[in-house]
Amino acid sequence: MIQVYYVRQKLPRGLGDAVLQARAFVNGDPFAVLLADDIIDGPTPCLVQMQQVARRYPGMVVAVMEVPREQTSSYGIIEGTAVVPGVWEVTGLVEKPEPADAPSNLAIVGRYILTPGIFDAIEHTEPGKNGEVQLTDALQAMLPFKKVYACEFKGTRYDIGDQMGLLKANVALALKRPELAGDLRQFLSETLETIFD
Ligand code: G1P
Repeated sequence: MIQVYYVRQKLPRGLGDAVLQARAFVNGDPFAVLLADDIIDGPTPCLVQMQQVARRYPGMVVAVMEVPREQTSSYGIIEGTAVVPGVWEVTGLVEKPEPADAPSNLAIVGRYILTPGIFDAIEHTEPGKNGEVQLTDALQAMLPFKKVYACEFKGTRYDIGDQMGLLKANVALALKRPELAGDLRQFLSETLETIFD
């Protein structure tokens, strides 16, 4: 039903560099970036929620969620001004700040609607956190020229780069599939019985 093209990032130079590899495919159009280790399950797909924001507020859009303060060093963190409930105009972005330096507890998760100007910004972005070219830094550099909005999506995010996140995503999503839910429920209840016996 779809055609899939891919390109390999030859060296692990960071997320910004990975996105830069797709420049020729994007061909001057706005585009979406989905980080495959972030699974988001919501009433409306996260990207659709973000498109609704982009239609109302022209610019780039990142998906965000609140995280506990002590976890800010695992995420890109935004600073923003509330526009309407669930939407911020971004005034700053920092990649993986320590809790004491974090401008908020609103963390970027792996969904972005970007405009092609980001490629030039990435090209001019020096390696940052962990010696990698950070997409977060390129977005920060574009703020004077292009508005960036943050959309606090409705839904649940699973980090499947984490073992427990992978397990939770499998169970939660399988329970939503009619062809799997019955057997899985049975298995889970039998397993729980053995734990609580
Ligand atoms: C990447 C981004 C970070 C974002 C995170 C979401 O980091 O650089 O800004 O918050 O994805 O999952 P990574 O988890 O690849 O280190």
